[in-house]
Amino acid sequence: MKRRTFLRAGGAIAAAGALAPFAPRLLAEGQPGTLLPSTAPLPPAFRAPLPVPPVLTPSRTDATTDYYEITQQVARLPILPGLRTEAWTYAGSWPGPTLVSRAGRRTVVRHRNQLPDPVVVHLHGGHTPADSDGYPIDLIAPMGSARYRARDVATGYRDYGYPLDQRAATLWYHDHAMGRTGPNVYRGLSGFHLVHDDEEDALPLPRGDHDLPLMITDRSFAEDGGFRYRTAGHMNGVLGDVVLVNGAPWPVHRVDRAHYRLRFLNASNARRYRLELDPQPPGGGALVQIGSDGGLLARPAAHDAVDIAPAERFDVVVDFGRYPAGTKVRLRNRLGSGRTQEIMRFDVDGTKRVEARIPSVLGDVPKLDPGSAVTTRTFVFRQALNGTWTINNREYQPGRPLARPRLGTTEIWRFVTDFHHPVHVHLDPFQVLGRDGRGAGPYDAGWKDTVDVHPSAAVEIITRFTGYPGRFMLHCHNLEHEDMAMMADFETA
Ligand code: C2O
Ligand code: CU
Ligand code: CU
Repeated sequence: MKRRTFLRAGGAIAAAGALAPFAPRLLAEGQPGTLLPSTAPLPPAFRAPLPVPPVLTPSRTDATTDYYEITQQVARLPILPGLRTEAWTYAGSWPGPTLVSRAGRRTVVRHRNQLPDPVVVHLHGGHTPADSDGYPIDLIAPMGSARYRARDVATGYRDYGYPLDQRAATLWYHDHAMGRTGPNVYRGLSGFHLVHDDEEDALPLPRGDHDLPLMITDRSFAEDGGFRYRTAGHMNGVLGDVVLVNGAPWPVHRVDRAHYRLRFLNASNARRYRLELDPQPPGGGALVQIGSDGGLLARPAAHDAVDIAPAERFDVVVDFGRYPAGTKVRLRNRLGSGRTQEIMRFDVDGTKRVEARIPSVLGDVPKLDPGSAVTTRTFVFRQALNGTWTINNREYQPGRPLARPRLGTTEIWRFVTDFHHPVHVHLDPFQVLGRDGRGAGPYDAGWKDTVDVHPSAAVEIITRFTGYPGRFMLHCHNLEHEDMAMMADFETA
């Protein structure tokens, strides 16, 4: 039976070309999803200053561990001029406060839930034991609620323990509640968690206020300023018509004529972006990528533009010294249309600073050897006839693993798609071996935890399972697809 299912999936792969005619119908702006237009008046671009989320202070620290507390709460945020947006927040802000950790030092975060619904917290990119990884039914019920008796449900608060035994990288935390991740994240449950280490500290990269985490999202707003969200008619993902960076619509930021590290995170539910600076500096290659989801690349890679799918991170350095003082440099989205073509603007002023540079050798990224893989598994991401989104023809069901990798072994996983699916694997990062039988793409370098799989495509990745036994997730990070069952367990032992 299992074998027949697999063969049928194999047939789908062989017939992938036959799926292609369906793709254009569902593709808006080079991606899945349908636009949900705002009914609120929208502000002009490049007026709101770029917010930088505050760094959270630990409530206490000891020799090995930093302890934090975050209360998840409703807040009325001033996002659009003259209106308030009711948001679900980490500690009252969106993005939530940024956590900053040292690799190898344990971080414990106590999340209190003062929201109306149960929540789950996942540290995306964290190498985290199963009981703190935000399994979608390991809920935190709201404080004071007595409705939940299930074993995995905590009431009021939960302590998440993160060993952070991993490289320096741009991680993020977000909600992961079963079937509700899309609306919960859309309402504001996302924030940065940065990890630093000695390898990265030794490099002369931009620091301090020249190191900017940039969370890019799209949202739509109702007349009263509230977030507009619905899945009916948006099976393929919800696209907003306002682009926000760190929670501000089309913001503007003043920069010196100096190097800046921009940590791009696409925290949108479904929207993909093609990021490009406009104007390009003379000679192009403005976005010098130094890192990916899993931290530093081996060597920098200069791009004119970068494609970023939901949940991906691109760590780039931009030398604004390549522009004359007074230049207004727009960060544009080449996959957008109308106002979603704009993201934010950097206004270059006269101050010249030259302290940072981009070293030609960055991090140690040992290549995983395909010859060492003990198995190859295929995961087919496609829409079922009933409209739900499936992996290997199965809708998500907690506790039913689609794979049981052994810790300490290396495997090759193939992701095969019908439409665009940004595929994310928990626990360990991976390397992209190739796309459609060719080599990896220009945005696949380094350690990844999410890979943008294009329509009717096959992507091969290689990963090593390390550290922790238990059940972990593999899923599409289009949050509407995820909520509509495009998720699977794998269980390590
Ligand atoms: Cu960012 Cu399982 O998710
Ligand atoms: Cu994750
Ligand atoms: Cu998907």
